[in-house]
Amino acid sequence: MTKSRQLSIYEKNQLLRYGLKEDDLLARAEMPVEYLTGFVNFKNLEIKVNQNVLIPRVETEELIDLITNFIDSIRAPLSCLEVGTGSGAISLALFDFLSRQKNLLLEKFILTDLSTAALKIAKENFSRLFGTGSLSKIQFLENDLLSGFSEQKFNLIVANLPYVPSGKMANLDLSVKDYEPILALNGGESGFELINKMLEQVLDKELLSEKGQIFLEVYENHNIQFIKEKFPKIFQNFSIRESKDQFNRQRFLILQKI
Ligand SMILES: C[S@@+](CC[C@H](N)C(=O)[O-])C[C@H]1O[C@@H](n2cnc3c(N)ncnc32)[C@H](O)[C@@H]1O
Repeated sequence: MTKSRQLSIYEKNQLLRYGLKEDDLLARAEMPVEYLTGFVNFKNLEIKVNQNVLIPRVETEELIDLITNFIDSIRAPLSCLEVGTGSGAISLALFDFLSRQKNLLLEKFILTDLSTAALKIAKENFSRLFGTGSLSKIQFLENDLLSGFSEQKFNLIVANLPYVPSGKMANLDLSVKDYEPILALNGGESGFELINKMLEQVLDKELLSEKGQIFLEVYENHNIQFIKEKFPKIFQNFSIRESKDQFNRQRFLILQKI
């Protein structure tokens, strides 16, 4: 017998807010409420989502706090690159933060994704939230990781790339595996393969400036010891810091060139 879905208070509130009925969601098996309302709140921004993009997670909001602390400490113009932007959530929150900084020069802000449909949503979110003028300050590139990049430097690189190990994909909740894009989830055998490829490209193409930092959201077993054992090139070339999420799980890595 299938268990009937019980809506949470959050889901009920979201339905109410967007003028939808509980039955509208109950009729859609395990669909996340955000795909029905079409919106999610992320760092106080109302971000549009659809099934071409991952629903930005509450943990990722913590990544923004780590990054803004770093930005506060930068004394140089900011050159920022986000790889795998999806709905644009991370860059939208950073852009929002930057637009409130008086003495910070934004030299360059590039967003990439492999998915055309995701970039369309990211662009839409920028023009909805910050006006069409914001689009001239940002470059949106359809790109496989950093394949098209050369001869430029960034002092901030951020990526929440797919990090679920392939073997764990089947264990994901139905609300995730039946509705969210597989391109946003599957990170390869250990979950770190795509991230590793991106980091190797950063090294090989010398894309990170001397004091620049890379902020990554990762799977909970992707800690320094794991990288030392499985991805020695990354361990040897970067100093790495770990940071936990609010659920006390290892979740973020901050890298700087050695
Ligand atoms: C986990 S989602 C994160 C989305 C968004 N940054 C966030 O934090 O909510 C990963 C994103 O990486 C993109 N992606 C997957 N493989 C990629 C690749 N090879 N190159 C660039 N982007 C990729 C997916 O399309 C997806 O939008």
